[in-house]
Amino acid sequence: MQLRSWLGAGMLAATVSFAPAPASAQGALVLYCAVQEEWCRAMSNAFEKETGIKVAMTRKSSGEIYAQIKAEASNPRGDVWWGGTGDPHLQAAEESLTLEYESPVNKDLHDWSLSQWKAAKQRSIGIYAGALGFGFNTQQIKSKGMAEPKCWADLLDAKLKDDVQVADPNSSGTAYTLLATVVQLMGEEKGFEYLKALHKNISQYTKSGAAPAKAASLGETAVGIVFIHDAVVFAVQGDPIKPVAPCEGTGYEIGSMSIVKGARNLENAKKFYDWALSPAAQALGAPAKSYQVPSNKNAPVPPQAPKMSDMKLIDYDFVKYGSSAERVRLLAKWDKEVKSLPK
Ligand code: F6P
Repeated sequence: MQLRSWLGAGMLAATVSFAPAPASAQGALVLYCAVQEEWCRAMSNAFEKETGIKVAMTRKSSGEIYAQIKAEASNPRGDVWWGGTGDPHLQAAEESLTLEYESPVNKDLHDWSLSQWKAAKQRSIGIYAGALGFGFNTQQIKSKGMAEPKCWADLLDAKLKDDVQVADPNSSGTAYTLLATVVQLMGEEKGFEYLKALHKNISQYTKSGAAPAKAASLGETAVGIVFIHDAVVFAVQGDPIKPVAPCEGTGYEIGSMSIVKGARNLENAKKFYDWALSPAAQALGAPAKSYQVPSNKNAPVPPQAPKMSDMKLIDYDFVKYGSSAERVRLLAKWDKEVKSLPK
């Protein structure tokens, strides 16, 4: 029986080696992807087509992927974590869950991308950037008899009671960026006062960061706090949503990529990493309705990308707010002092 199966395997191998190489002959790659599904699929399909490496892709929010990689640390399943806000990538780097790597493409990257790489001690790199803000449904705001919201302060208006959505910062990198942004912009005490006041207007904390943009575009909520590029997606397709860069100033993300420590398909992970930093791969964002600013200087910037140079951006301290101690502390404080509050 055993002999027969060995023989069978040998014959199969011989047959395969004379046949044209199927895609899986190049091996596999397990990709954890934290951007919008459409972009995740475009990246997986293009890489598979170009290299013959079979990609098993899972899409989740930034904080969820971080938690999964941490839970799998003693028996890693993922190879590359592509996308999502930079802070949890930095936390994973500090906790040694990801691997140092220097790509030959580094020389073509913007300084902000390399600053993520340096902060992560080479364990993570910037792949795109985008600023935080909100999108409001123009019809809903009009029907409430309100002036168009332009500032963070405007979102506390009592007329918006139960009509603002944002994600939960435990699962979502977008919502963690909001938490870290208000703390940096207003100071910790005032920042938490702001989040507690905002809580009165929140109808639900979603799992995914971009979900409130879709809800605002459909009129299911008056305001969605999101990365501005996620509101632009619906504005350019003609939905009644206006993207806003808040007047007081705002934070931003360095969307990032890391190789999982202990990756089973390490060579393929490095291939994906180098390819994902190339101008051709970074150009796949815009057709998949993702309007972030790419990190390769030679990649085309989508014309729909919000102009970050025209915004009042805070000097976001990625090292501090991406550190394990600070993320854990701020998330626990938010759970205790904001999320649990009655309304
Ligand atoms: O793909 C859209 C996007 O907003 C990215 O720019 C960002 O890195 C990611 O989603 C954050 O998603 P989440 O808030 O669900 O972690």
